[in-house]
Amino acid sequence: QIFKIEDYQPSDYLIPETKLTFELQPEATIVTAQLQFERRKGVEAGTPLVLDGDELSLVRLELDGRPVDASGYQASPQQLILTAPPASARFTLTVVTQLDPSRNSTLMGLYRSNGVYCTQCEPEGFRRITYFYDRPDVLSVYTVRIEADRATAPTLLSNGNPVEQGDLGSGRHYAVWHDPFPKPSYLFAVVAGDFDVLEDSFITASGRKVELGIYVEHGKKARAAYAMDALKRSMVWDEEVFGLEYDLDVFNIVAVSDFNMGAMENKGLNVFNDKYILADEATATDADFANIEAIVAHEYFHNWTGNRITCRDWFQLCLKEGLTVFRDHEFSADQRSRPVKRIAEVRTLRAMQFPEDQGPLAHPVRPRRYREIANFYTATVYEKGSEVVRMIRTVLGAEAFARGLKLYIERHDGEAATIEDFIRAFEDASEQDLSQFALWYHQAGTPNLAVTATHNAADATFRVEIEQSVPPTPSESRKRLMHIPLAFGLVGEDGQDIVAAQIEGAQVENGVIHVRKRKHSVVFHGIPKRPALSLNRGFSAPMTLSMEQRPEDLVFLARNDSDLFARWQALNTLLTDATIRAYRAVSGQANVAHDPNLIATMGEMARDDSLEPAFRALALTLPSESDIAREIGANINPDAVFMAREGLAKAIACANADQFATLYGIHDAGEFRPDAASAGKRALRNVLLDYLSLSSDQPTYAAAQFASATNMTDKAAALTILAHRFPGHVEASAALARFEDTYTNDPLVMDKWFQIQASTPGANAVEVVRSLLDHPAFSIGNPNRVRALMGTFATLNQTGFHRDDGEGYRLFATTVLEVEKRNPQVAARLATALRSWRSLEPKRQEAARQVLVMISSREDLSSDLRDIVERILS
Ligand code: ARG
Ligand code: ZN
Repeated sequence: QIFKIEDYQPSDYLIPETKLTFELQPEATIVTAQLQFERRKGVEAGTPLVLDGDELSLVRLELDGRPVDASGYQASPQQLILTAPPASARFTLTVVTQLDPSRNSTLMGLYRSNGVYCTQCEPEGFRRITYFYDRPDVLSVYTVRIEADRATAPTLLSNGNPVEQGDLGSGRHYAVWHDPFPKPSYLFAVVAGDFDVLEDSFITASGRKVELGIYVEHGKKARAAYAMDALKRSMVWDEEVFGLEYDLDVFNIVAVSDFNMGAMENKGLNVFNDKYILADEATATDADFANIEAIVAHEYFHNWTGNRITCRDWFQLCLKEGLTVFRDHEFSADQRSRPVKRIAEVRTLRAMQFPEDQGPLAHPVRPRRYREIANFYTATVYEKGSEVVRMIRTVLGAEAFARGLKLYIERHDGEAATIEDFIRAFEDASEQDLSQFALWYHQAGTPNLAVTATHNAADATFRVEIEQSVPPTPSESRKRLMHIPLAFGLVGEDGQDIVAAQIEGAQVENGVIHVRKRKHSVVFHGIPKRPALSLNRGFSAPMTLSMEQRPEDLVFLARNDSDLFARWQALNTLLTDATIRAYRAVSGQANVAHDPNLIATMGEMARDDSLEPAFRALALTLPSESDIAREIGANINPDAVFMAREGLAKAIACANADQFATLYGIHDAGEFRPDAASAGKRALRNVLLDYLSLSSDQPTYAAAQFASATNMTDKAAALTILAHRFPGHVEASAALARFEDTYTNDPLVMDKWFQIQASTPGANAVEVVRSLLDHPAFSIGNPNRVRALMGTFATLNQTGFHRDDGEGYRLFATTVLEVEKRNPQVAARLATALRSWRSLEPKRQEAARQVLVMISSREDLSSDLRDIVERILS
């Protein structure tokens, strides 16, 4: 079935009140739902009531307290129809269903994770609990009673505020929760289990006291401290920056070890993948700390952007996700280093969203069609969705943007809104027409700007020719012209920006060229000397640029641009170009000499104390193999990409060896602190360690760091270098064995061990991954293990996964089908790793096509996996 945005119809009935009772038992949980229905005005009396279900088994059905006659309803696992509801405007339906949480391996609806009961309802999991209008525009006030064994489930949680609890005898107890805020079913949650809790409290700006709790596995309470700190900082930040306060008496977070995604913003009861809660220096890396901070903030920020104001239908997913990602990006930028954060965001966007936008899975930020909504929790909806919100701010200016957002929240609080509502609020607040801009929501594909610049000394003009194009994407062959905000600078010899006396050819404001037409010829007057052109500063729009730039201009910008993102970008462009030149040479069996100016610039960046260490670490990091492959575009040979990249790395390492050794010695971060500045020092040092290992061709440095490291960041970095650069070497094998031995009982750390091996380059990786699938710490039913091993292999190991005999693809396909038997959502997500198969060289292309065809020809395929595989093949 294909769902279309234009088919939206409001429901015939509303559900103002929902009362749920859960009698929890691991294998036979009884759910009693008392649903108060109200016929919508204008709907004819007696109109059949059609409710969603998914694998449900109905035990009992009552209407206003009396059993419903068999002729009065039709029930199947996926639907309940009340054929002739009462003519009265209101009635109460009591639905009793029986569930088996222990056997629910999909991790949607009510399931068991490590002995705890938990739920995941977004997007369509509530229908696995009871029959309901499982759609985001039906808002209801929930009261929830939970009954369970006190011994195994002393903690009973749901949304809203606690009302009552007590004993039931025979080892059973209960708790009642009430959430006064009407909400859609996807925000519902219950959790029951035996936890340790880290407690704290927060006083909101208006003086409301909020009890905070983070529930974790016994013995892991100390590892929740950083998440709690991040939560409190998020609460302060949302008050200060957006004027948004928390609205309940309690805010709880539960960490579970089996979770399909990162986390979930259920009202007052966020449920998290434990990977994004648990951290201490001994077991988590700096990247883990940064993710925890961002995701805790993200879920908290959803309380307003998502929960108080929710989505009319799932086509509007970006309304809450794009906006909330934008908010968490801004939060992290304020808590950490803004330019470093921006570079990290762009790297993620390019690595995750660009291939989506440029391949068979491309879709608009607000899609118009879907078969499986669970497959639309994508980088396009989330990351590009955030970029679009950022561009609204760029286009309107910070002040009008703030007014627009405030208006949006005032207008739609308590409602289920649309992207049109969102845009209208900004139009009304700014009195600007955003209709052309809105194409960013509606049109898929990454726009390209082709730019050429010419300087005329005679009349002191600098002319920049800009031409926009948007490549065709599936089912959108013809594209309309977009409004692209292009931030720029004309950089003079002294590194300062030159201010033109006059500009013609486009609207140019506050350093931004507003590209709206196919072609603009922008003329800057009063420019006597040819400047270096700095474009897309701060990454003002999610696009690609085609511009022939002189290498000496790029080196100049890398050294001097006032915009740090642009400095990083200039260097990154040079490194990418150099690698591609080497790739062409490698493919032609030739050697390539790298530009000594570029090599020297890398050394200069490394030692430039005016730059923060985290920035220097990013500057020294080469574009990834997939970044390079994406730039090459077609007929890719991943082995040649790998060799080209290694060659450049080696040239940089050898030419700067002495310097890098000195810097590695100086930049000890000292005692562990998780803050951004300390993390930056570790990042720089670990990039340097990689170069030192490369130039010396000895595992000595890495082995020494592995032995002496007192935090997981340094330890995992050293282990990665040993495993990747010296595979099979006794130091590498010893370190891997040692690590395994130390962390056997810590699944989140074992994930790192799986990741490091799954990403070890080379033809042997297939065999390594195959044998790790049988490792006792691996579990095909746990999404984190699957992603650590198979997800890492398929997305980060270009030489292993794309082995030219196709064996990597076959191992991958077998695993995807194995995962699918339990968890179709995770399998479908995993399968997207094959989306760029058409850009490979012919032999690999054919091997990849064969496994895709093999998967798609399975008759018992889940609709989740079928949707992805068929789109990838189309
Ligand atoms: N709303 C959640 C978040 O972005 C994502 C939940 C999606 N879950 C799923 N099974 N598709 O924070
Ligand atoms: Zn979200």
